[in-house]
Amino acid sequence: MASQRDIDFTYTLIDKIFRLSIGETGDFSGAKYDGDFSLTLEEAQRRKHAFVWEQLRLAPGQRALDMGCGWGGLLRYVKARGATAVGVTLSRGQWAACRRNGLDVHLHDCRTITRDTFGAFDGVASIGAFEHFCSPAEFRAGKQDEVYRQVFRAAASVLPRGSRLFLQTMVFGHNMIRPDAIDVHAPRDSDAWALGLMTKTFPGSWLPFGSEQVERNAAPEFRLLHKESGRLDYIETIRQWRKRFAAPSWRKRLLKITLIPRYLFSEDFRLAFVSGVSANTICFERELLDHFRMVYERV
Ligand SMILES: C[S@@+](CC[C@H](N)C(=O)[O-])C[C@H]1O[C@@H](n2cnc3c(N)ncnc32)[C@H](O)[C@@H]1O
Repeated sequence: MASQRDIDFTYTLIDKIFRLSIGETGDFSGAKYDGDFSLTLEEAQRRKHAFVWEQLRLAPGQRALDMGCGWGGLLRYVKARGATAVGVTLSRGQWAACRRNGLDVHLHDCRTITRDTFGAFDGVASIGAFEHFCSPAEFRAGKQDEVYRQVFRAAASVLPRGSRLFLQTMVFGHNMIRPDAIDVHAPRDSDAWALGLMTKTFPGSWLPFGSEQVERNAAPEFRLLHKESGRLDYIETIRQWRKRFAAPSWRKRLLKITLIPRYLFSEDFRLAFVSGVSANTICFERELLDHFRMVYERV
């Protein structure tokens, strides 16, 4: 699993800049354009929230859990529709921001959740967090399936039979290269280099091999009801993020100044955040990565 230190590197370091660019409770995961790129980013994220609400068949007064809730975009939506929303994150920056915004969020490893942790729920969502549950070291030790099995056992433990889980995650695509060939110092523009850059942005994280690996590990507790690719939608989402991150503001400029020592002294920081390219986009375009939204029913 990506450790709290890894997660803080990816998310807490950019906490303030993220909130100034994308919004206090902005989403940091692929939006649901369904190919309609005339939508704004915010409309497409809202469409995703509405889809999750409908697919989980939530109703006012019910309880929903968000495993890996980020800055709380989905939680805010669920709360506004009259349900109770509980979130967990491993990022201290996200946790503090969510609490300030009145959201019920806990700094907790969601893989260890049981019914005793926060009680039972009517629906569970996990959006863009599954990517972090297995580390490269766990993959190399042959534990990847075991890690995913535990995630599904945790989700299942809080859900009654017949209720639903919404899961959105990146996976390695069908053009994925040999894992040991991934290398950030490989020739620029090569597949090995693009994937290497991604490992710098998301240290401690390793992806499932296709949606099949996710489905296989879900199968003992969950039946797949629906699956769709969000790969092209994700490319558009990243395009919109980059515009918003680049939009000038004095507060962002001041924050960036505080990051100059890291820029100067940390190669990892430079590769992760200021490489000048979007490694994710390159990997999605080349289908080194894919992306899926899945709806499961608890059996
Ligand atoms: C890409 S962000 C997505 C956030 C949010 N779901 C969204 O759509 O904006 C990944 C989230 O997963 C969380 N996460 C990763 N591993 C976790 C773990 N083991 N336990 C709890 N949260 C975790 C991170 O802290 C972060 O909030």
